Amino acid sequence: MRTQVAIIGAGPAGLLLSHLLHLQGIESVVLEVRSRAEIESTIRAGVLEQGSMDLLTEAGVGARMKKEGALHHGIELAFGGGRHRIDLTELTGRAITVYAQHEVIRDLVAARLAAEGQLLFEVSAVAPQDINSETPSVRFVHGGSQYHLQADFIVGCDGFHGVSRPLIPADVRDDYQRTYPFGWFGILVEAPPSCDELIYAQHQRGFALISTRSSQVQRMYFQCDPKDDVNNWSDDRIWYELNARLENGDGWRLKEGKIFQKGIIGMRSFVTTTMQYGRLFLAGDAAHIVPPTGAKGMNLAISDVHLLSQGLDDFYKKSDSDKLNSYAATALKRIWRAEYFSWWMTRMMHSFADASPFEQQVQRAELDNVISSRALSMALAENYVGAF
Ligand code: FAD
Ligand code: DHB
Repeated sequence: MRTQVAIIGAGPAGLLLSHLLHLQGIESVVLEVRSRAEIESTIRAGVLEQGSMDLLTEAGVGARMKKEGALHHGIELAFGGGRHRIDLTELTGRAITVYAQHEVIRDLVAARLAAEGQLLFEVSAVAPQDINSETPSVRFVHGGSQYHLQADFIVGCDGFHGVSRPLIPADVRDDYQRTYPFGWFGILVEAPPSCDELIYAQHQRGFALISTRSSQVQRMYFQCDPKDDVNNWSDDRIWYELNARLENGDGWRLKEGKIFQKGIIGMRSFVTTTMQYGRLFLAGDAAHIVPPTGAKGMNLAISDVHLLSQGLDDFYKKSDSDKLNSYAATALKRIWRAEYFSWWMTRMMHSFADASPFEQQVQRAELDNVISSRALSMALAENYVGAF
């Protein structure tokens, strides 16, 4: 078996890379450990920056996003019993779309299969080899048979826990990380929207986020102990906690409904700056993780593979490796800005158990500054919509 680019992982990064390469006439094979049904139903991100929306549209996979996604021109910051709108469009000329990650995945899978792209689900024992030579390959098992896929390049799009990053020897890998002492409890609810825009709430009891999926389904999160068990949280306890964190003194309450999905996610910041090693490239969560507060993860994955597709295009069409060789340096500029923004939003919006009374007052003063200074509102808005 032979291809030009072997792609490990069918998340947003792997699927979009394969699709962009196809549009450029470059062959790829995508290897995914999970089933199609599983990747098309896992609940994760929900916010697409304008640049991500534009790229998906240009690549011909944006029709459903445009029809079913919700275009948002602002977000709200809730704290101290008040709600304050950040007008993203007035401040930056840009907007975001709320469209679930698994819907992006469904659109990309449909496009790859319609183009008869090679997308193999439920593979196992995925083992990249000879990544430091000009003839890398990947061994894997599919449908009970062993395969050996030869390629010019291997791209690890296999997420944070994948096999690609650990192949880069520890002594050449440059990793940076921070873990946070809290997680997010996420729910999906059958209910109409409680508000027109996303609400990011800071409260002594902890952070809360009110997002949406459609006119009938809402997505909400609240800060929790990362080691907590979802079974400790009855629906009543969840509604009590969310309403307490969003209280604003005028009797406004969330529109409650049947909670049909509950899950807890841990939070970390992580970057490996070694995004290339020989003929192995890393993209998306395989190379970096952000805490979800800034809604950046899926967008970074999309921007990584956009850059990589351009580098591969130059390599094949012009025999020019410059863009490929500068992929890591170029991608890292955006990655570090998103790391900074996600860390900043996380620090500003969450409760830290060890925060002194002084630190709590300063945190509140920072939020007051952000909403009352146009410069600071604009900085938040520019980072949120990805205007850089
Ligand atoms: P992944 O989506 O993790 O895909 C990796 C794929 O590789 C998976 O399908 C996996 O099964 C496969 N794989 C793993 N190992 C192997 C192997 N050995 N062989 C073959 N395949 C393998 N981001 C945003 O931009 N906006 C948001 O609003 C947002 N909210 C989030 C909310 C939550 C609750 C969570 C958990 C994340 C959120 N994120 C958000 C982050 C976003 O979901 C990720 O950054 C994004 O999924 C990264 O895409 P990826 O393709 O790099 O990796
Ligand atoms: C969603 C997730 C986020 O992390 C975020 O910052 C905003 C929205 C969501 O899943 O809708």
